[in-house]
Amino acid sequence: MRNVILGGLAGAVIGGTVASAAMAQDAGAGRGLYDRFCAACHGDSGRGDGVMTGVLTLAPSDLTRLAARAQGAFPLMAVVRRIDGRDPILAHGGEMPLFGPWLDGEGADVALSGPGGQPVMVSRPIADLVAYLRQIQR
Ligand code: HEC
Repeated sequence: MRNVILGGLAGAVIGGTVASAAMAQDAGAGRGLYDRFCAACHGDSGRGDGVMTGVLTLAPSDLTRLAARAQGAFPLMAVVRRIDGRDPILAHGGEMPLFGPWLDGEGADVALSGPGGQPVMVSRPIADLVAYLRQIQR
């Protein structure tokens, strides 16, 4: 987390949209964010078996099956919208996303490649989280 914040600040200081956008996504940093913000519900391994499941009305999704459930293509847009709150789900805080302040990022946005190859701008923490989620697909 500290690295993410420092990285974001460094990006802002360099003033570099280009510098930040050029950095590769960091799945390791994404894992750290996942453990901190998502594992309680979605489980340590992402299978939807976190410690919070007992008190939730809705079962958290199995995040290791996102691609499998979408005919093998990782549903980037849907995932990003879910995390940043543009596609609100109650357990994530609805219109006021639980993660907003944490995942907004401090530096420049990162361009991910969308379904048709078009750029999708997201904050660095979300880019890292997505990299991690891609890694755990089975
Ligand atoms: C408070 C519990 C909770 C936390 C914390 C949480 N989620 Fe969820 N999440 C849920 C529930 C419950 C659903 C299923 C809700 C639904 O389908 O309407 C869900 C659904 C999702 C989906 C949609 C999956 C699908 O089937 O399309 C994604 C993606 C997701 N979560 C990612 C995350 C990420 C990434 C984090 C951490 C930044 C996170 N969630 C943190 C409870 C949580």
